Amino acid sequence: MLQIEIDRLNKHYAGFHALKDINIAIPRGSFVALVGPSGCGKSTLLRTLAGLEKTSSGDIRIAGTSVIGKPPRERDVAMVFQSYALYPHMDVEHNMNYSMRLKRRPKPEIAERTRAAAETLGLGSLLDRLPKALSGGQRQRVAMGRAIVRNPKVFLFDEPLSNLDAALRVHMRSEIRKLHERLKATSVYVTHDQVEAMTMADHIVVMRAGVVEQQGSPLDLYDKPANKFVAGFIGSPAMNFIPAIVSPDGHSLTIEGDAATMLVLDRKLAPGARLWAGLRPEHLSLTPVAGSLAIDAVVASVESTGSMTFIMVAVGAQQLVVAHSGRPGVEKGGAVRLHISPRNIHLFDRETELAVSG
Ligand SMILES: Nc1ncnc2c1ncn2[C@@H]1O[C@H](COP(=O)(O)OP(=O)(O)O)[C@@H](O)[C@H]1O
Ligand SMILES: [Mg+2]
Repeated sequence: MLQIEIDRLNKHYAGFHALKDINIAIPRGSFVALVGPSGCGKSTLLRTLAGLEKTSSGDIRIAGTSVIGKPPRERDVAMVFQSYALYPHMDVEHNMNYSMRLKRRPKPEIAERTRAAAETLGLGSLLDRLPKALSGGQRQRVAMGRAIVRNPKVFLFDEPLSNLDAALRVHMRSEIRKLHERLKATSVYVTHDQVEAMTMADHIVVMRAGVVEQQGSPLDLYDKPANKFVAGFIGSPAMNFIPAIVSPDGHSLTIEGDAATMLVLDRKLAPGARLWAGLRPEHLSLTPVAGSLAIDAVVASVESTGSMTFIMVAVGAQQLVVAHSGRPGVEKGGAVRLHISPRNIHLFDRETELAVSG
């Protein structure tokens, strides 16, 4: 059962095409992340779902019914903003149940729903505090509580964790995910942070410049990026890209301008084709793996976080990042041999930037 269907949706601001033919189908109860660089249209898409922004063409259906032209209050959605948007002069309890009071719900119902939401979020002891007496994380919870008491069909989150420090952000990610598993309401979550999207969502929609570049499960996007943009956006550190040319036999690549480095392929490609070879830092190994091929490189610099080591290397004129768990004994200026399994080499057409499978 689909809870949200977005069909060929377009949004024009005066003279600016912000959303271009967006198609997304969201099953009931799923957690979807909209991810992409700043300015790609994530908030615009979320706001059109909420009814805060008019659409130019196309359809949005929630629970099978078109909501085009319907005001926000008739869409049964609740939105949580990055800024929390709490009323500064109202305590936690009144911030949470404001929408129910506005609708003049019966007092016992208001009390019960506020109590239940406060308990779910661990806000029970803070109900009479004003927002200014709360930490960032607590304010964020109140903003979520305000959405929960409305018991909406759909939760919309616009970068709700951006104002929190790194540790709290990681904690709140798993809190929101747990809450989702308990409430099972359909959620659409906007973030520019691909790690947040990868760890929280069942389904990720990657956007760029108003266009959906690819959508799928987190691991699908990681394993089978449809184009160079998605390949570079998903994964950390980012995928390395090397300009390469397919050899005359079609079974190997040479790095452009460096005929000495040969990458043998597990597929046959058009001889002479100009490609990007995409190598994930974590797929480059300092020791051989079964069936792997070798690339000779020189260490340019080494950075360690303690648990992980990032080695910047030069292969001819190309710079690559290698991610190594643990602490390999490599030094700046030293020679290393990198190993990668041919099946982990991603290939993209140099002109269209679309994935090439051979
Ligand atoms: N009210 C508006 N009028 C004109 N352009 C807008 C308006 N709101 C957003 N935009 C433009 O639309 C694009 C997408 O914005 P937005 O959806 O906020 O991006 P994101 O949330 O992905 O960072 C941006 O280029 C932004 O400048
Ligand atoms: Mg935004």
